[in-house]
Amino acid sequence: MGSQIKKVGILTGGGDCPGLNSVLYGIMLKAYDAGIECIGILKGWKGFLENQTIPLYIAEHDDLHTVGGTILYTSRTNPFKSVSSKEEKAKELTKKFEELGIDALIAIGGDDTLGVADNMYKLADAKVVGCPKTIDNDLAGTHYTFGFWSAVQLASNAMDNLTTTARSHQRVFVVEVMGRDAGFLTMYSGISAGADIILIPETPFDLEKDIIDILKKRANAGYKYHIIATSEGAYPNSESLNRDFKTISKETIDKLPKDSYGNPLLVKLNISQIIVDELNLREDLKQEFQKNEVDFECRSVVLGHTMRAGTPNSFDRILGLRFGLAAMKLVIEGKFGNMVSLQGNKIKTVPLSEGVRKKYITLENDKMELRDLLVKIRYLSKQN
Ligand code: F6P
Repeated sequence: MGSQIKKVGILTGGGDCPGLNSVLYGIMLKAYDAGIECIGILKGWKGFLENQTIPLYIAEHDDLHTVGGTILYTSRTNPFKSVSSKEEKAKELTKKFEELGIDALIAIGGDDTLGVADNMYKLADAKVVGCPKTIDNDLAGTHYTFGFWSAVQLASNAMDNLTTTARSHQRVFVVEVMGRDAGFLTMYSGISAGADIILIPETPFDLEKDIIDILKKRANAGYKYHIIATSEGAYPNSESLNRDFKTISKETIDKLPKDSYGNPLLVKLNISQIIVDELNLREDLKQEFQKNEVDFECRSVVLGHTMRAGTPNSFDRILGLRFGLAAMKLVIEGKFGNMVSLQGNKIKTVPLSEGVRKKYITLENDKMELRDLLVKIRYLSKQN
């Protein structure tokens, strides 16, 4: 049981994000109090496989929760990738606990990283617990992941700031926001900044109806600059792709590299630039702008990794600390195979296998209605 745990290993896997160090500090605070030693495993599962570890002494890391990124480094190594027997691999990995000198492991990561921990627990009874991490906020087991709100704020600030240059040049800016599969980052930052059009993967867009028509209506209502927020994973519906697009086709999407489930990696499209290229080909749109004394000019901005950069905001620092504390408590209580999660404002526990499922914005989500109202009411309310 818990009392036998003397040393706990901690690793961070997948893309980094603000708040990872906050989780580490939360773990270290509780571990110190409980007399448990912490070992940092470097570069996620890569360091686990290669025995790359460092001691973690809390006295050397004052206020680590305020620092962005992860002092443990990270990688996207997945030891289960293309193995013939998952069970054997799970047993092999679990045996490494002895080599690494650890009694239990806390894995901090997204579906990929925590999926490994889940396999180890289910197939080899490993003493592992998980802590969910992704700035995309697309894990089913938790209402929010740390890092999400810091990234929303960064993207929202970027869009706020872009309005001054958009206004000066009377331009359209297409801002590409991180979020491969789900649109949480784009939806929240777009609504927060008052973006004029918001495109997310959950609702494939129609170029004509959702972009060109809206831009024309906005131009006619007197708007002279426009901000379009798009998820990097947003894409057109097939009808619009066939009907409206000149620069890409179904074949372009079919030729994209595939993810582990065989789905095309839409994130490789650079959708913001495609939208800019398509809009630039539309003489009817240019004419509509000119009618309102604006020369049509359009630019794309990819926010990319700037969204994961910098220090965590206060919400993420505190959520990270709470997750760290709760993860260490799971270890002490011997509740392995689980991950910590935020439900409402309470820290709860869910089985790893449930927690790592993907989450998307559903049609019933009030943000969908808010987005649609935000887009249309502004130009409608200015029409005579
Ligand atoms: O999953 C988190 C995420 O930040 C996505 O939003 C983004 O597509 C991806 O990671 C980028 O990954 P990398 O850092 O490997 O380029």
